[in-house]
Amino acid sequence: MSTFQQHLRRHPFVIAGHRGAAGLAPENTLASYSLALELGVTMLELDVHRAHYADGRADLVVIHDNKVNRTTNAKGTLEEFSIEALRQLDAGDGQSLPLLSEVLDLLTLHTQTTGRITALNIELKGEETADLAAQMLSQTFAFPIVISSFEHFKLTRFRTLMPQAPIAPLYHRYRSDWATTADDLNACAINISAKMATQTRIKKFKAAGYAVFVYTVNSLQEGQQLRDWGASGLFTDRPDILMPLSLTNP
Ligand code: G3P
Ligand code: MG
Repeated sequence: MSTFQQHLRRHPFVIAGHRGAAGLAPENTLASYSLALELGVTMLELDVHRAHYADGRADLVVIHDNKVNRTTNAKGTLEEFSIEALRQLDAGDGQSLPLLSEVLDLLTLHTQTTGRITALNIELKGEETADLAAQMLSQTFAFPIVISSFEHFKLTRFRTLMPQAPIAPLYHRYRSDWATTADDLNACAINISAKMATQTRIKKFKAAGYAVFVYTVNSLQEGQQLRDWGASGLFTDRPDILMPLSLTNP
């Protein structure tokens, strides 16, 4: 078992594969996560929505949008498909839309076979994802898992179900009430858009005791600046470019 805090101590600058390695492989597919892991990322990021099997059971599928139009060969909202039907779609290069459980299995296997611990950031996107995520994460994993969302009420719900789990509110723009939100959630990190990432803000979040992760950074120069400013890590579509910035403590 490894906690997220231990992971951050071991990796003072985390390189997180955004939707896997979305700039190199079809986003949010097992191929994309496998490639990101091969490139050595120290965290993986993915987005989850709730969907249903034909018999009515709910599960978490890994996809960014609530429609399949942009990332698959079909059209429609997720609600129009059963999980069985979603799994038939081509999410790029013949890949199917993964279930969250498959990515958890992939990371478990990765930990067992390489001995390397890679954290997982699960971003709650769709309705009622908090309950399903809490159910799934009630087991123990060999790698740390942090839950994030732009919709902070989902994190509030998740926190009531999992009092100890690492949580990171996401921000696409600065909000002056961030400290109250992060404190109420007992967050461990604040995940922010590169558009709102300034040195002053990063220092303020860090001084308040939070790790700070910035999305989405695909240039080495921008990543270097964020690292110099004290960010704890970044999300990138291009781990091949950003991995040189990764720091690991012996
Ligand atoms: O979690 C960081 C990033 O993934 C948030 O934005 O839209 O890519 O999910 P988005
Ligand atoms: Mg995301």
